[in-house]
Amino acid sequence: MSQETMSNHFAQLARSYDELRNPDTALRESVEMLVAAGDLRGRHTLDIGCGTGRILSILARDYSVHGWGIDASGEMLAVARANLPKHINVQQATAESLPFPDQFFERVYMTMVVHLLDRTRTFSEIARVLQAGGRLAIITTDPDSLAESWMASLFPSYPSIDAARFPSGITLEQELAESGFTQCQHVIVNSARSYGKAEALNKLRQRFVSTLSLLPEDEFQAGLVRAERELPDPVEYTVSSLLVSAQRAG
Ligand SMILES: C[S@@+](CC[C@H](N)C(=O)[O-])C[C@H]1O[C@@H](n2cnc3c(N)ncnc32)[C@H](O)[C@@H]1O
Repeated sequence: MSQETMSNHFAQLARSYDELRNPDTALRESVEMLVAAGDLRGRHTLDIGCGTGRILSILARDYSVHGWGIDASGEMLAVARANLPKHINVQQATAESLPFPDQFFERVYMTMVVHLLDRTRTFSEIARVLQAGGRLAIITTDPDSLAESWMASLFPSYPSIDAARFPSGITLEQELAESGFTQCQHVIVNSARSYGKAEALNKLRQRFVSTLSLLPEDEFQAGLVRAERELPDPVEYTVSSLLVSAQRAG
């Protein structure tokens, strides 16, 4: 995804992002996975690609996390600044060039961002800003599940576009090991989800995931017409998340 396409996508989505993305129960599941895999409770922690700050906000309130966030999008950060308590520091920066001194953090995490980054540069930066023994947790989509997405039957290119973007658990483990991490592990977590048809159509029309901004326009429009005609009510499906954890070598 080019920098310009990504920047436009998140600029347009920023104000409706929290309403369009995971419902509260799914968000809570993600937070619990991060806290367990990253041992985040009470830690000095960086959220890379923090977006609207919805995860940082829960971590600070319920898990005493001393949170910091960075994001490439000024529009997403404007929403985060409006939502987050003032003591949580968020700033505009890229994952590939983190504006922090060496070993500044005890913990780093990222959710639904790793498919948008230069991973070699980002993992090297995370290794630099993490203390020895510090932990990293990543949540992303399991690429093996893409063909089963409820959107795959509407947009034929959907699985191949995302297969080229989303790394597997094995790939992430190997890349992290090469970047100075040990104890690299991954697990797949399956969760049932359901949307009403009207809600699903609204998500599609607003291109609630970046893949929809990467489809050829004629395919996107044809998929919308098909969705109006063919989607069941409710839309029920399973999300397969990939949870990766690793420790900065000492
Ligand atoms: C799908 S959103 C996820 C936001 C948040 N992590 C969440 O789970 O709600 C992806 C975010 O990553 C940010 N992003 C994309 N590429 C980035 C980069 N290279 N460095 C920092 N942030 C980036 C985007 O601006 C966007 O806010």
